[in-house]
Amino acid sequence: MKTYIVGNWKMNLTVGESSIYLQKLLKRIKMSKDIEVAVAPSTIALQTLSVQLERNKSKVKLAAQNFYHRDYGAYTGEVSVMQLNGLVNYAIVGHSERRYIFGETNKDLKLKVAAAIRNNITPILCVGETENERTYGETKDVIRDEIFGALSEIDAEDVKKVIIAYEPVWAISSTKGAKIAAPDEIANTIKLIKSELKEIYGKEIAEKVPILYGGSVNPSNAGAYLTIPGVNGLLIGGSSLISDHFIDIIEIAKRVAR
Ligand code: 13P
Repeated sequence: MKTYIVGNWKMNLTVGESSIYLQKLLKRIKMSKDIEVAVAPSTIALQTLSVQLERNKSKVKLAAQNFYHRDYGAYTGEVSVMQLNGLVNYAIVGHSERRYIFGETNKDLKLKVAAAIRNNITPILCVGETENERTYGETKDVIRDEIFGALSEIDAEDVKKVIIAYEPVWAISSTKGAKIAAPDEIANTIKLIKSELKEIYGKEIAEKVPILYGGSVNPSNAGAYLTIPGVNGLLIGGSSLISDHFIDIIEIAKRVAR
């Protein structure tokens, strides 16, 4: 399986800044068949970056940070995944910031996962427990609800088009005081995610679903996170905004994959 290195820029960088960043990335990285690199800029930068990637014949991919589950209609201010088709290969679904700041529920996410698959875009489904849920020993139940909630109507054929990102909410944005997740704890939760997938789809199919880790990943810990059994890549926030750091992490991923 490939290693996925995905940068989630969240609500940062203007269109101009995004384009300059991408140019630097394209100049500096040598793509490898083992590594899939994607960035998720702001929605308004997708068109510009998509043209830029095409012009450079680059294999770097784009991801959307969010979309609405309906394909078209009277939904002022929303962008559909159908409109994103042709611009992005991936779309992040159910990031904890969408769950907790914008109130997205597992029911919304089920519709989003289905919409992405219907439009040939790979959903990167984020799951993860909050600090409180972790303290009260509810991690298992939360992960189970999030996996079953979002995937209950996705069949075995389609789940092969899904990527899961485990992002413990308490480990996101260490620059803002979050904690750093220990490899052992991540390994345990990833085992849990795999066993939920096995329960629904069986072992063979469950093994085909890539699982990424996200939460305060930086060039100093990326290598350790990538060697955790079951981790197939990284979803990076803060560190992906610094192009030198993101490039370093891609190089580390290449070394680990070798
Ligand atoms: P940080 O890498 O800034 O902790 O963010 C992780 C994240 O939320 C990626 O989606």
